[in-house]
Amino acid sequence: MELPTVDLQPFISSNRSEKQECYKLQESLHRYGAVAIRDPRVQEEDSEKFIELLEQYFEQPTLVKLKDCRPDISYQVGVTPELTEWPRDNSKYAEKLSEQNKPTPFDGPDKKWRFQWRIGARREYTKFPELLAEPVIPENFPQWRQVMDSWGQKLLDSVFTVSEMLSIGLGLQSSTLPNLIRFGTHLLSPTGSDLNLYGTKPGTVLAGFHYDISFLTIHGRSRFPGLYLWTSEGERIPCKIPKGCLLVQAGAQLDYLTGGYIKKGYHEVIVSKETCRVVEEKKSRHESLWRVSSTMFTHVEPDKMLYPLLETSETSSYPPVFAGVQVEDELKAIKLAVV
Ligand SMILES: [Fe+2]
Repeated sequence: MELPTVDLQPFISSNRSEKQECYKLQESLHRYGAVAIRDPRVQEEDSEKFIELLEQYFEQPTLVKLKDCRPDISYQVGVTPELTEWPRDNSKYAEKLSEQNKPTPFDGPDKKWRFQWRIGARREYTKFPELLAEPVIPENFPQWRQVMDSWGQKLLDSVFTVSEMLSIGLGLQSSTLPNLIRFGTHLLSPTGSDLNLYGTKPGTVLAGFHYDISFLTIHGRSRFPGLYLWTSEGERIPCKIPKGCLLVQAGAQLDYLTGGYIKKGYHEVIVSKETCRVVEEKKSRHESLWRVSSTMFTHVEPDKMLYPLLETSETSSYPPVFAGVQVEDELKAIKLAVV
């Protein structure tokens, strides 16, 4: 099945008066924890240019990439090697799923590299200064900053519009969600999985069953299939994104802010039969076999409080917490934080 597609154009061109797509947006996030969006400001070529740069980066020898690694600051900028990040133990949630909707068995850590690059404005003073580290620029990529900033800013602009539309769709003031993320620690965070190594055996898990810590996660289309999503009813579905569209997924912070009305979206990335077919095709054309995701995590500003903005039956399960504390707790749980 395909996710509902929300078009941002009517909202943007009507000067924010066209509301129909706002309701569709919140309904899709509520049911599926995800939505496909079409943003007239983002073209398929932008995504392709970004993916090509990251393919070249991940193709480099391991020792070259390790120069860009900053474990002392919890890998918050620069590269995170494969086999470092552990999916959080979500077995309690997985137990409740029916047999055909169970996650693919895996025993972590994840077989994916990641590169983290900050996007957007920051406040000068914060209680969470470790989240403000200097960017890492890899050697031999003179275009790095321009390509990363350009793609990241496009995704961030999309998320600001989505968050404005979502505020309206939820019956909040249109500026409510944009104001919470205006100075958030947004991270362009592409992953790279080496399908030369892992792309031959269907059932191999590249990123184990998990949810994102973020407010919203946004990506362009990957060149390889393999992402599976769980709907809020616990149904596992392959993620198909129409050409020219972006995928937006609900993270833990949005779950918090909606008092569980929009649940954080669980997902996994595996090598499927379809992935193997694409690997064979690309091999015959001598194309890169690194599966790159053009992902960006957007976050609520760390010094803002997370608490439910909607009245729901689950409100008491979401006690107020600083967004920066919630992120630190989650990083410890996936073994990335230095404690
Ligand atoms: Fe994820």
